[in-house]
Amino acid sequence: MLNQLNQLEQEALSALEAVEGGDALSAWHRQYLGKKGALTHMLRSVGDLPPEERPAFGRAANAAKIKLEAAYQAREEALRHAEVARELKGKAIDVTLPGRPTGPGHLHITTQTLRRYYEIFAAMGFQVYESPEVETDEMNFGLLNMPPHHPARDMWDTFWISDELLLRTHTSPGQIRVMRERYPEPIRVVLPGKCYRYEQITARSEHQFYQLEGLAVGRAITMTDLIGTLTHFARRLYGLERRIRIRGSYFPFTEPSIEADMDCILCRGEGCRVCKYSGWLEIAGAGMVHPVVLQNGGYDPAEWSGFAFGLGVERPAMQRYNIDDIRMFYTNDLRFLRQF
Ligand code: FA5
Repeated sequence: MLNQLNQLEQEALSALEAVEGGDALSAWHRQYLGKKGALTHMLRSVGDLPPEERPAFGRAANAAKIKLEAAYQAREEALRHAEVARELKGKAIDVTLPGRPTGPGHLHITTQTLRRYYEIFAAMGFQVYESPEVETDEMNFGLLNMPPHHPARDMWDTFWISDELLLRTHTSPGQIRVMRERYPEPIRVVLPGKCYRYEQITARSEHQFYQLEGLAVGRAITMTDLIGTLTHFARRLYGLERRIRIRGSYFPFTEPSIEADMDCILCRGEGCRVCKYSGWLEIAGAGMVHPVVLQNGGYDPAEWSGFAFGLGVERPAMQRYNIDDIRMFYTNDLRFLRQF
């Protein structure tokens, strides 16, 4: 019986040497080590031996099993390595071939629009100031005169990172940051950047979009400075004949608050699809910086005053280029992006 066992072991090992692929390897395993395999069969037949031969045979059979299992693992590993080596060789890249040419890229329509905005405001003495997209609840709401439970927070619901941190809903928190950094200097800055809102995505509304905030703080700054700045901006951007209309509005961080509209660039006030037949396009929410906000920024409202405005970026670009769906800005479709 021991002889038979030795013979089986030798036979199995040399069969294993000849195995070349995964299927053959599985078949080998079934043949020798599987439930109905030859070695398993031999192990089971130990009961047929005379009792005095059983211990020695049992030990030898178990040792053979361990040896064959180890040989099987080693062969499996060797075959896998050989396969990887073959694949690498087959797919080798010929590094001497010339590369595929990539065409020159260009700036995204949002970046182009923002840069045009910077140019216009820079000519009026505004610097660009960047502030974080991840904000504290305090900066995004509290210090902008929206304490917890203020109903205006509902208009600007967002994505929360923790109870304290959120993705900013507007660029207005940058007002506090820049005031705290610049006090007691007068300020004239624009604050660009991405904003986020937890809202229904539609052709006009995204859950991520850009804004450009404007902030001027000084002595004796008035509403006429604000209106003059927005009028000049609209005329530089869309032509000298542009007219501006001011409507009363409400923002917790400005007092008084306004919305500025511009006569429609397409129909020049006659009424069309783009302006929803009103003749006017909204360009900014704005107002005089609220005394509480000035104070939170470190400026005494008895001495200082200021104006602030918030411009959209995608929506005005949509009007300008007749784009009917804001989602195009974020889907990275080159057929769209190449047009600008
Ligand atoms: C604000 O966010 C105020 N912080 C603006 C402001 C600044 C007022 C300073 C006073 C002083 P509003 O929610 O209206 O306001 O957003 C301003 C502009 O952002 C809109 O006119 C629009 O152009 C753009 N905007 C707002 N929500 C979206 C959206 N979901 N998708 C695309 N653009 C949006």
